[in-house]
Amino acid sequence: MSRVSRVDHIAYAVAEGMIEKWAWYHIEVEGGKLTKRVDDVRPDDPDSSMKLWCIDFESFGVVLVEGIDRKKKSQVTAFADCHGDHSVQHIAFDTENLEQFVSRAISKGVNLRGQQLVSNDGFGELKQLFGKGYAKQNAAEMSFPEYVERPKHGAQMSTSVPQNTGKNFYQRIEHARNTGDTSTLINFSLMPSDWAPDSSGKRASPSATQPAEQQEPAGA
Ligand SMILES: [Fe+2]
Repeated sequence: MSRVSRVDHIAYAVAEGMIEKWAWYHIEVEGGKLTKRVDDVRPDDPDSSMKLWCIDFESFGVVLVEGIDRKKKSQVTAFADCHGDHSVQHIAFDTENLEQFVSRAISKGVNLRGQQLVSNDGFGELKQLFGKGYAKQNAAEMSFPEYVERPKHGAQMSTSVPQNTGKNFYQRIEHARNTGDTSTLINFSLMPSDWAPDSSGKRASPSATQPAEQQEPAGA
């Protein structure tokens, strides 16, 4: 199966000084549980950083990010300034098989921001890939999708894709921001001009297309 199956987590960018307040809301009002708290993810970066707290709801997670401005305004501060406190920066969708999903997505013209990463994000191990922004705007200010795959019950994470080479995701957004890369997730050029949704109620075939070569997009 190569389609997305559920929401894995929602990441909110919060305004300066608000991460504790929104954590209280998600924990005490909504019933979540704090599973990871990092008050400075880039302590050695003279330019900027962010706070990152993860709150687990078992069937999905909430991630709160708050910018830390130093010589530069943090990309997270820029996002919250643009969209307001507690605005959705990205939604991550789970997939049964990330490599198959990515092959399908690339075959439809989807532009990803760099290659797959493997990490532990506060909800457990995962493979993850980020899409470029939905619209042609400053990369720091544009929301985007994330696609993930979690290891299946007790299994080891396995992947054939070379891991964690090059920039991490914060650095990729910084690079796009610094170079004026406003390229988008998709330009619909591969959407057939006569496409219409199937009115029979059947889902589009989830079968994987021929695996496409994963390429590091320009600027990532
Ligand atoms: Fe995420």
